[in-house]
Amino acid sequence: MKKTFYITTPIYYANDVPHIGHTGTTVFADVVARYKRLQGFDVFSLTGTDEHGEKVALSAEKAGKEPQTFVDELALKWQDYWKQLNISNDVFMRTTLPGHVKIAEELLEKLKAKGDVYEDTYKGVYCVGCEEFKSERDLVDGKCPEHRPYQVQYREEKNYFFRISKYIPEVKKRLEDGTLPLIPENKKTEMLAKLAEPVKDTSISRQNVKWGIPIPWDKEQTTYVWVEALMNYYSATRIDWNDGVNREEFWPADVHFLGKGNNWFHSVIWPSLLLALDLPLPKNIFVHGYYNVEGKKMGKSLGNVISPQDLMDKYGIDGTRYLLCASMPYVGDSDVSFKWFDEKYNSALANGYGNLVSRLSKLYRDVPEMVLEDSYFEFQSNDASERVFGGHDNGSNYNDAYNVYNLSEVTELFNRAVTNINSYLTTQEPWKKAGDEKIQILRFAIGQLLEVTHAISPVMPETAEKVFNLFKDKSASPLILFARI
Ligand code: MSP
Repeated sequence: MKKTFYITTPIYYANDVPHIGHTGTTVFADVVARYKRLQGFDVFSLTGTDEHGEKVALSAEKAGKEPQTFVDELALKWQDYWKQLNISNDVFMRTTLPGHVKIAEELLEKLKAKGDVYEDTYKGVYCVGCEEFKSERDLVDGKCPEHRPYQVQYREEKNYFFRISKYIPEVKKRLEDGTLPLIPENKKTEMLAKLAEPVKDTSISRQNVKWGIPIPWDKEQTTYVWVEALMNYYSATRIDWNDGVNREEFWPADVHFLGKGNNWFHSVIWPSLLLALDLPLPKNIFVHGYYNVEGKKMGKSLGNVISPQDLMDKYGIDGTRYLLCASMPYVGDSDVSFKWFDEKYNSALANGYGNLVSRLSKLYRDVPEMVLEDSYFEFQSNDASERVFGGHDNGSNYNDAYNVYNLSEVTELFNRAVTNINSYLTTQEPWKKAGDEKIQILRFAIGQLLEVTHAISPVMPETAEKVFNLFKDKSASPLILFARI
């Protein structure tokens, strides 16, 4: 039987278009999905939009549109961006899909039947930006640090609550003993620090928020948007997507990808809900840091938001994918700027890899009698991919990096390999040689280049195709992959 691999991104609020942060997470997950496919896994890769709740409803109102019309338009825009970026998601989740609504209702009923739901009054502050009830210790100067300069709002409302307190000890234990692996380590430490303090039961419904899934047993209330949003990961495996694929066997997710602001929901609330529902827990949770721009938090009010369109216009699709992977460190946040992106693009892609490809393809074309056998391209089959990905380089290898989702390390390994091949050419000087000697040097260098290309192909799939073609088909005309900026 084929091994399955289920990977998810958060579903993004359908209240605006994506920025570099959403794009980063989506590209990272796509790179891993593509890597796993190369490794022979049957992959289910999921992304989508989170379409209910107060935040989306308010944005629709501001735009003067009915919420459904508003989210329909935005969901198309998100899909269009992901298509441009060559994201290979299998389906696109939308939480307004009737299939999702039905399964969310089923899970809510199940929670209630379990005796884990009760009615109470919530009194406290709410941050609409986070769609989250906040406690004092979450605030800085009375404001949500993620959504300054906006104010949090005092709310007093009847809610249904989930007895999360009942499941916290088990979640804590699993995080601690690694049976619920949360990586990297510092993101786990943060959650455990929060879990050292008592956890209050959480709301699963909202009063006065009309745009949501009605609570099945009380139509006056709608489901708290985060609760049904988390449920999307499960409903996606049960919805009939009309493509003839049964995705039930993919559950539970092999990994949820997310940015640090969503950590608590995915690492504490979601596992607690799953325990209550007697469903298996995700096998891994991977949390990356945030993109800051020129040392500042990125935000609309600061006017420094970087959009995927800005990046694609300047660096192309694969350039953008590469730069996003290169710029997010495995641990901690990333500070980016167009200056940094320009420099990295020029050094790694234009002068590094791009130049190497054009040098070698020219040398290869200068030797008419030289032909590369099919075996040079064999790693493209799944079985042979181990050979390439497993190649050691300075103690670390591509497999190790991909398997822990350390994509900046993948790009580093790639850069080093490119540098090594370039120095090999500089010392061997094949342009000064002739006959068999020249051919041997070129064979080795091109073989290395193709392996490196295969290893980076999850990051730059179109480029890899072009490069393979350049060396498969000698009549193909050489091209400039990455023009200097
Ligand atoms: N709708 C919820 C998620 C529900 S998942 C069941 C939500 N949506 S969001 O539109 O705000 O997207 C949050 C995600 O976007 C983060 O988990 C992260 O992946 C990404 N990022 C948002 N801002 C970011 C940065 N500044 N930097 C990097 N990623 C960031 O929350």
